[in-house]
Amino acid sequence: MASTIAFFFLGLILLSASSSGLAAREPFACDPKDATTRTLPFCQVSSPIPQRVNDLIGRLSLQEKVKLLISGAAAVPRLGIKGYEWWSEALHGVSNVGPGTKFGGDFPGATSFPQVITTASSFNATLWEAIGRAKKYLLPALNIIYPLAVIFLKETDMAQVVSDEARAMYNGGTAGLTYWSPNVNIFRDPRWGRGQETPGEDPVLSGKYAASYVRGLQGSDGDRLKVAASCKHFTAYDLDNWNGVDRFHFNAKVSKQDIEDTFDVPFRMCVMEGKVASVMCSYNQVNGVPTCADPNILKRTIRGEWRLNGYIVSDCDSVGVYYDTQHFTSTPEEAAADAIRAGLDLDCGPFLGLHTESAVQRGLLSEIDINNALVNTLTVQMRLGMFDGEPSSQPYGHLGPKDVCTPDHQELALEAARQGIVLLKNQGPSLPLSHIRHRTVAVIGPNSDVTVTMIGNYAGIACGYTTPLQGIGRYARTIHQQGCKDVACADDQLFGAAIDASRQADATILVMGLDQSIEAEALDRAGLLLPGRQQELVSKVSMASKGPTILVLMSGGPIDVTFAKNDPRIAAIIWAGYPGQAGGTAIADILFGTSNPGGKLPMTWYPQEYITNLPMTEMAMRPSRSKRYPGRTYRFYKGPVVYPFGHGMSYTNFVHTVANAPTVVAVPLDGRHGSINATISGKAIKVTHAKCNRLTLGVQVDVKNVGSKDGAHTLLVFSTPPAGHWAPHKQLVAFEKVHVPAGAQQRVGINIHVCKYLSVVDRSGTRRIPLGEHNIHIGGTKHSVSLHAATLGVIKS
Ligand SMILES: *[C@@H]1O[C@H](CO)[C@@H](O)[C@H](O)[C@H]1NC(C)=O
Ligand SMILES: *[C@@H]1O[C@H](CO)[C@@H](O)[C@H](O)[C@H]1NC(C)=O
Repeated sequence: MASTIAFFFLGLILLSASSSGLAAREPFACDPKDATTRTLPFCQVSSPIPQRVNDLIGRLSLQEKVKLLISGAAAVPRLGIKGYEWWSEALHGVSNVGPGTKFGGDFPGATSFPQVITTASSFNATLWEAIGRAKKYLLPALNIIYPLAVIFLKETDMAQVVSDEARAMYNGGTAGLTYWSPNVNIFRDPRWGRGQETPGEDPVLSGKYAASYVRGLQGSDGDRLKVAASCKHFTAYDLDNWNGVDRFHFNAKVSKQDIEDTFDVPFRMCVMEGKVASVMCSYNQVNGVPTCADPNILKRTIRGEWRLNGYIVSDCDSVGVYYDTQHFTSTPEEAAADAIRAGLDLDCGPFLGLHTESAVQRGLLSEIDINNALVNTLTVQMRLGMFDGEPSSQPYGHLGPKDVCTPDHQELALEAARQGIVLLKNQGPSLPLSHIRHRTVAVIGPNSDVTVTMIGNYAGIACGYTTPLQGIGRYARTIHQQGCKDVACADDQLFGAAIDASRQADATILVMGLDQSIEAEALDRAGLLLPGRQQELVSKVSMASKGPTILVLMSGGPIDVTFAKNDPRIAAIIWAGYPGQAGGTAIADILFGTSNPGGKLPMTWYPQEYITNLPMTEMAMRPSRSKRYPGRTYRFYKGPVVYPFGHGMSYTNFVHTVANAPTVVAVPLDGRHGSINATISGKAIKVTHAKCNRLTLGVQVDVKNVGSKDGAHTLLVFSTPPAGHWAPHKQLVAFEKVHVPAGAQQRVGINIHVCKYLSVVDRSGTRRIPLGEHNIHIGGTKHSVSLHAATLGVIKS
């Protein structure tokens, strides 16, 4: 995002001119006080939206239309329409990235949830939707440590969180209604600086996250939108700046197979299941064409196949980037025409506002193409109620400053951090530190007393923070030492004091890891180890420590901590991701056992050697023996790992058994495709030739908590398709989170959609269901199911 600085400042100036402090927002259009415009047909709330949109477009001149194609959309004063800034962000709370949102005055902050990679680790779709817009969410067990918070907590039917706060800020004139979140690119390479913003490396997990969070943000009031979300960046965008290659120049060479079974999946689920109101195309090229100029990607796939009901927006100035930086077209008019004809509806940046009119004059584009784009943007604005007159008289019009940073919103941010934190190692077990309560703890490390580090990027201004030191201080007496000046940890000047502290304390907690100086937008990592001399500090402190040494890691991307995993003096390791404004409380609650950890890694933790000969620019997911290429993510890479995808321990133990599941499933064919050879080849059925409706594999699993503590458990259901060169060696097909009290057992029903999840993609990008034995794995339990084609006894599977 954000390559045109001038444009950014222009946006800021426009915004500060239009928002004057505490005053409630004036109507965007169709002001009931304006007798000349309120009677126009596009203002009639009772008319169908398509009719209103057509009426409005019919009244606009070409010059006026062109100025609506950009994110800093101009006013149309003669029709009573104000200017609008489309660019706001709400990745994990209302953000101040983008000129559409401004904190200050009545809105000094907003609830800052954990960074997405952490929230994803909860594997709890209910939580993801609750963050966007809480339905009824349950309060965690009464927490005696924070009686004050509990007094203010009330369970409301409509505990809407991010979208409540966004609407409240919109009503107050300090935010927009169009949010370019979530980021659901696949976390393909562990070095990616923006991996932290994503739900991880698995396509199905990312797709489920996308659909849940988008539903939460957009609400479920029929066609009406509470706020409009956008899934980005479509597609194969997961490199920022590595070894001299940046996203503005990168041409991702991607196979049809990887597009269909990896890169498309989260976006398809976002559009088709989440019903998102927008998709953003990316800066990079895919197979030689900038995504924002590719009609196959925009018009054919997103709008044609997936039936997006919404608008397609460019990344910020990405149309300018493919003209100026990639030299994809020889004139700016061609660049503008290519984008709009490919299906782009809105430009983040000034480019289309400057060059579209002359593109029409040169005959590169017709006014009808522009109308088609405006239908998509104006329809979203109407679904948001922006043409319905007075904001205060609308469904979300009552929301204001009192609805932002409420105690229950902040409690949910804390709950999200508790659910997302992952226990990687617990030797002994040495955690929880219940016996250390009220005793002395050395708290050491560059991340031990941080605030903004905990909220990661695309954040806003938090309501307030609890640092790890403060959180731990609620349970024990603390001795604090930084150990390193910052995460870069260039020298050992502060080591001595840290070592002394650990000698005196009953336990030592080292809070280490990364921050935005190491991994960020425009900054991919060079390696996977802890930066600078952090590792040395950890080892030296652990050698001196009188009590157990616990390592807490803050980071978005995975870190190679093999040294700590293997070191018996390091008793336990916790990964907190970037845990949000309440991160310190959540970390302490887990360390001292007030909460039982249940998070699981949403990405593979590779050893440093993995990246030695692996260019980030190489997109292939599948390994290649001849090229000595290891493949990417747990689905394809089979080499050594530090911690695998899905790893995460608990203070209790769970066992599962498959209680009930079919051993044979017949896949009905639709019979419309004549020759059987067209339907079945290579012992697999083309998904488009099967009757997929409601064809599910129902599995019932008993989960027993055999330990002594209550806990939440994530059932990760993987399948291994019959052997064949197309297939991943295993893939996530379902997951379900359950809470099971100590000693209790719970039955969990899981329905696996056969066509969606048991299919694999062949080399030409065609999805097929392999016939034969599929192995379903749940933890250590395996169940085998045989798939065959129904009604075709003669066909040998
Ligand atoms: C169908 O495929 C089989 C095996 O691949 C082949 O022997 C047969 O000739 C094919 N039949 C038709 C009608 O193409
Ligand atoms: C999922 O999250 C919701 C919202 O925080 C919570 O009420 C629920 O208990 C969580 N589920 C499990 C199994 O932990």
